[in-house]
Amino acid sequence: MIKIAILASGSGSNAENISRYFYDHKNIKISYILSNKRDAFVLERAKKLGIPSKVFSNKEMKEQVDLLNLLKVEADFIVLAGFLLKVPENIIEAFPNKIINIHPALLPNYGGKGMYGMHVHRAVKENKESETGITIHFVNENYDEGAIIFQAKTSLTAEDSPETIAEKIHTLEQEHFPRVLEEVISKAM
Ligand code: GAR
Repeated sequence: MIKIAILASGSGSNAENISRYFYDHKNIKISYILSNKRDAFVLERAKKLGIPSKVFSNKEMKEQVDLLNLLKVEADFIVLAGFLLKVPENIIEAFPNKIINIHPALLPNYGGKGMYGMHVHRAVKENKESETGITIHFVNENYDEGAIIFQAKTSLTAEDSPETIAEKIHTLEQEHFPRVLEEVISKAM
């Protein structure tokens, strides 16, 4: 069995979607859901899904040792699903090309520090973009700069608000993220 640990900081709609997709999978399972936020809704979802979960404070995440030790035992791949901290370098070194992030825009546009969630959708709206999308990519030591695995686009109109943009992105994420993960992981097996 290939084990995936999910790191998430917020609501966890992607974490839940991925977990449901792999629930009965022959070769891939979600082993852990980890969060840096004690009150993140993703932890409620983990409980309901029966997936082990654990919280590491931001400080514990940066100190790396406990988190790295747990990941070495519990994960072959790490998936960032709305995880808003930088992944510590030790972990990136220990999991080369094994950490995958989803970003709610068409990178390299609208990436980098501070560009997450609604901040991205508001910036897209302010710039009157005619399209946006999602990017699934490998994680390296710089925010949002690892090799791109997959992108999907959606068109926007002048009537779209940051909230409707968020809904369109959510739809793309739900449709593509689990399937793309399955493809990448199956190739690496
Ligand atoms: C998702 O839209 C994801 O792409 C985004 O956070 C949201 C998390 O939603 N990630 C980033 O902005 C990373 N820079 P969720 O908690 O419901 O899965």
